[in-house]
Amino acid sequence: MTRGGEAAFIGANTAIATPPLVPEIRLHLATEITPIWQASEDMLARGNVPPPFWAFPWAGGQALARHVLDHRDIVAGKRVLDFGAGSGLVAIAAAQAGAAEVTAAEIDDFAAAAIALNAALNGVAVAVETADLIGASGRSWDVVLVGDMCYEQPLAERLTAWLRMLAAEGVVVLLGDPGRSYVPTSGLTALGRYKVATSRELEDRDSRDGVVWRVEME
Ligand SMILES: C[S@@+](CC[C@H](N)C(=O)[O-])C[C@H]1O[C@@H](n2cnc3c(N)ncnc32)[C@H](O)[C@@H]1O
Repeated sequence: MTRGGEAAFIGANTAIATPPLVPEIRLHLATEITPIWQASEDMLARGNVPPPFWAFPWAGGQALARHVLDHRDIVAGKRVLDFGAGSGLVAIAAAQAGAAEVTAAEIDDFAAAAIALNAALNGVAVAVETADLIGASGRSWDVVLVGDMCYEQPLAERLTAWLRMLAAEGVVVLLGDPGRSYVPTSGLTALGRYKVATSRELEDRDSRDGVVWRVEME
């Protein structure tokens, strides 16, 4: 599918809305889960389309975006990477908070298209990187932000090892997580806690406690 086709799919299956904890950012979001999930599955049957994670502002990402907007000094004037950016919520928050450069990393082409649309919607500049950056040196970034990525064990293990490597290189690494199964159990310092309103359809509960962790080298 072309990038134009992805943008058309996003336009047809989302509405512009604001995440509950980050009302200053507007995003193309799914308003109900089932139709977009079904539409993606129909496309999945025809092509290779991953679940539309980009159509939801995940609780970990919302906590991290809120934290960055309320503590602008973390990113102001810095080169920032939003890893596993989904909708681009955290990247957009970093840009709004005064980051010098923001890159959003996403391996899903639909997410890459959504990030470009969402950055334009909010009038900020966000570069999109679609290569898998896990293992890359941290010399290009001062701050690496990761929202809600500890939902799958192999991914969380690879990611955690890399984030510790980046921390050892002197990169400031922040992880927003709402208590997912594979969040590391050590080597984290809590910087902030946020109650994030969620839907029962998506999370099976009305709210989650999103924690912003600083990842330490171990
Ligand atoms: C649960 S979503 C979180 C999105 C966003 N950070 C948020 O909090 O709303 C996880 C995202 O990570 C992306 N992802 C998974 N593995 C990745 C990798 N190796 N590099 C970049 N993105 C990846 C997925 O495509 C998905 O969009």
